Amino acid sequence: MQKPVRIAPSILSANFASLGADIDAIAKAGADWVHVDVMDGHFVPNITIGPTVVKAVRDVTDIPFDVHLMISPVDPYVDDFVAADADIITAHIEAGPHIHRTLQYIKSLGKKAGVSLNPSTPASSICHILGIVDLVLVMTVNPGFGGQGFIEGQLAKISEIRQMIDKSGRDIDLEVDGGINPETAKQAISAGADVLVAGTAVFGGGNSDGGYKEKIQRLRG
Ligand code: DX5
Ligand code: ZN
Repeated sequence: MQKPVRIAPSILSANFASLGADIDAIAKAGADWVHVDVMDGHFVPNITIGPTVVKAVRDVTDIPFDVHLMISPVDPYVDDFVAADADIITAHIEAGPHIHRTLQYIKSLGKKAGVSLNPSTPASSICHILGIVDLVLVMTVNPGFGGQGFIEGQLAKISEIRQMIDKSGRDIDLEVDGGINPETAKQAISAGADVLVAGTAVFGGGNSDGGYKEKIQRLRG
């Protein structure tokens, strides 16, 4: 069942010189989760942050840390993100080689396990792992950078996965990531998403003029 919309600002677009303060500000502005984009310069063409940074800022707020791993391999780094106190750890199905094992391992450590799909990956690729995932993350841009345009063709995939989740009867969050603004947020929600990641739409322009609070509110539809 589609749950009330939650907003997960992506700190990729935050001010890294004052990351802790920016995380505190979005939490106070009503963000539901903190979305952390981890990139390795191998699975995606960009390098961002790792577990040391997550650990350093984790105590700034109590809201969940939603860690999106755009790395390959994944398994050797899961322990470090668990130690950094991530709440949700999401791996890409394309990162290989054994996504089922990766998800089982994350869950065995008491964390929520998510699977993410690149735009070219079909919904059917996750039908045999829906029984163990807590979250499905549909990429609506090619992963690697903030500020890209929403790929509308992914809406059909979001609807398809919404039906698969409802049919499974399991409590699985359906998250959408990339190019989310007040307009695309509406489209994603009506297709069945219940968690929206937003980098540019929250952090772009900073915290002045209504600030993070207004920008987060506008995404709720
Ligand atoms: C892309 C990342 C996204 C991205 C979202 O690889 O996974 O989380 O930062 O940024 P916007 O909202 O600017 O598209
Ligand atoms: Zn992300």
